[in-house]
Amino acid sequence: MTITKDAITQQSLPRHVAIIMDGNGRWAQAKGKPRVFGHKKGVESVRNAVKFCRQLNIESLTLFAFSSENWRRPEQEVTTLMELFMFVLTNEVKKLDKNNVKLKVIGDISRFSEKLQKSVVKAEQMTENNTGLTLNVAANYGGQWDIAQAAKQLAKQVERGELCADDIDENALSQYISMNEQAPLDLLIRTGGDLRISNFLLWQAAYAELYFTETLWPDFNEQAFADAIACYVSRERRFGCTGEQIKELLAQS
Ligand code: IPE
Ligand code: IPE
Ligand code: MG
Repeated sequence: MTITKDAITQQSLPRHVAIIMDGNGRWAQAKGKPRVFGHKKGVESVRNAVKFCRQLNIESLTLFAFSSENWRRPEQEVTTLMELFMFVLTNEVKKLDKNNVKLKVIGDISRFSEKLQKSVVKAEQMTENNTGLTLNVAANYGGQWDIAQAAKQLAKQVERGELCADDIDENALSQYISMNEQAPLDLLIRTGGDLRISNFLLWQAAYAELYFTETLWPDFNEQAFADAIACYVSRERRFGCTGEQIKELLAQS
């Protein structure tokens, strides 16, 4: 499926896209190279994805860079991933800033080195007033962690006497869930062929369209991204309503 700019309206495009960038290791291994070679190549796909979202005026792009479970990987691989993260943060942030991109890191960064934590804060501060694409990088992120940290904040409010436990509902919890200030997640893409969420955006994905592709992350280029968007545009989102109700709503707008 291909996509042409004229055939789609901004309204039909997703406002918020998230990607589980999977398949770097297999991509490298297929070429007889060490896994880290795939991670390095994957950075190019990140650049392309950011550019693509900027061109389509997508509001938020959320990338799964390192999961809370990825610490279980061989020490050498974890170290390389951290170094790469540090390198990208320090070297790409100026370009992101120039392109009006707002960078946010989501996840429990307290487990990272002091140096890395400082770079994260600096990069976020440098770009915080930008009004173009918001790029969320999920690092040491887990969907279950996100829900637990939101619950903890509500519990603290109850402890301070600011909130009654009986008043806790979905709205109250969602206030503290990562990226609550941004557009709701519309499309969740996973590359690399596996059909699972791997503890990514559990709360936020409640009504997201899911798109799985066999393409390995280092091969995920503009065409592959356009195919995912075209697939999203062709789907009918009902949010629990019937198709007829949605059509009536559209006719009114
Ligand atoms: C995803 O690629 C990148 C990270 C988890 C950081 P993988 O490293 O999981 O690659 P595969 O799935 O082993 O091919
Ligand atoms: C998910 O990929 C995490 C990231 C892309 C950062 P994994 O390769 O870690 O997921 P599993 O282990 O196959 O579920
Ligand atoms: Mg993987």
